[in-house]
Amino acid sequence: QGGRGVLRLKAAAPRGLFYAWQSMVQVLNANRTEDGFSVPVFSIRDVPRVEWRGIMLDVSRHFFTMAEVKCMIDTMSLFKLNRLHLHLTDGPGWRMEIKKYPLLTSMSAWRVPLANGEWNWQEVKLAIQEHDPEATYGGFYTQDQMREIIAYARSRQVTIVPEIDLPGHSYAAMHAYGDLICDGVDFPVEGKKGRDAVCMGRPETLRFVKDVVDELKAVFPPGSPIHLGHDEVSAEAWKKCRYCQNRLKDLNETDLKALSRDFLQQIADYVRKDGYDAIVWDEAGELEADKHIFVMAWRGNDFAAAAARKGHPVILAPCSHFYFDYYQSSAPTEPKAIGGLIPLRQVYGYELPELSPEEASKVRGLQANIWTEYLYDMGLVEYMAWPRALALAERAWSDCDPRDYKSFRSRAALALKLLEKLAVKYRPMDEED
Ligand code: ACM
Ligand code: ZN
Repeated sequence: QGGRGVLRLKAAAPRGLFYAWQSMVQVLNANRTEDGFSVPVFSIRDVPRVEWRGIMLDVSRHFFTMAEVKCMIDTMSLFKLNRLHLHLTDGPGWRMEIKKYPLLTSMSAWRVPLANGEWNWQEVKLAIQEHDPEATYGGFYTQDQMREIIAYARSRQVTIVPEIDLPGHSYAAMHAYGDLICDGVDFPVEGKKGRDAVCMGRPETLRFVKDVVDELKAVFPPGSPIHLGHDEVSAEAWKKCRYCQNRLKDLNETDLKALSRDFLQQIADYVRKDGYDAIVWDEAGELEADKHIFVMAWRGNDFAAAAARKGHPVILAPCSHFYFDYYQSSAPTEPKAIGGLIPLRQVYGYELPELSPEEASKVRGLQANIWTEYLYDMGLVEYMAWPRALALAERAWSDCDPRDYKSFRSRAALALKLLEKLAVKYRPMDEED
């Protein structure tokens, strides 16, 4: 009654104190009384289970403002999530200023708006905003704004992970710079049919990517991971392109995969020259590039296990459990989503792939991905993210029992009260959740 306690926080590194305080916020939240807090005597010894506890936000399909991104960092850090991966480029828009290639943002960061909600990239029209009054939807981060986001995140123990998605998903880049398009491709028509991989034979491509990496390095501090994409690459255009075919001959290869392997290896080497890490989606884990490239496994545990077996550091982001753009329930009241069904219980129940101790040592962490085809505002993103990100956060931080969903649920209910105070538009838990 009105007594005073002593709080002692001790950590091996400054970030440990930050996390200790986040735990205290949760303890206080759980021990509120009418006129303050009544906290029992307790002691916690704590270390994170995995070092990479991430969320990916797709800012290409829909653009989110600085304030919205910062708000996301705030909520993530409250639950000790520590990597915010920004999917900065894709067909629908290029979202970071690159000074050497101004058309990426004057032209490919703006589109003629479609109705909110469903967004069909095959119908999208990118255009220079100043010349087409209809091209009003979009936006991008200047390099100074990105520095501000990085600093804001850093003070909350969050690392920003930029992704430049290559060689596929590159319609926005190709639209702005035609030198990246293969010979014989009828662009933009074929680009919209999924032939959106940049040319592997023209010297302009490698120059372009290295220039972009140089500018990323001017903004992101050494040690940052740089994500190079490599998901869902269509090699169709490469088959008929004389530049690509010449390159294949130079490499003394016949399989088109050799083009993307060589391209990836060159870029990865370039990225790592100054102490940055190169990351790719798991398709590129099959290219036999070097083992130091991090593999982010989105297609599932089998692909994660295959990459770990080869010796790649692995981040687990399986679409079976951690794709937060999928539906949370089959109720007809859910906002329109891309498909799939991943209820809260399923996120919490995720089991790691079967791995030997050596392979398991390659697992760097867990990550949820939030693609935004249908998530046209931050309220929808928050609805899809929470409470599922609470389940991810707990599984990534603690060595808790994935089958003890009931006890997680009681903690999640308290955490949602915190989110309520922050005006985060989470999805309330149902009886049956
Ligand atoms: C992905 O979902 N294409 C990484
Ligand atoms: Zn080509």
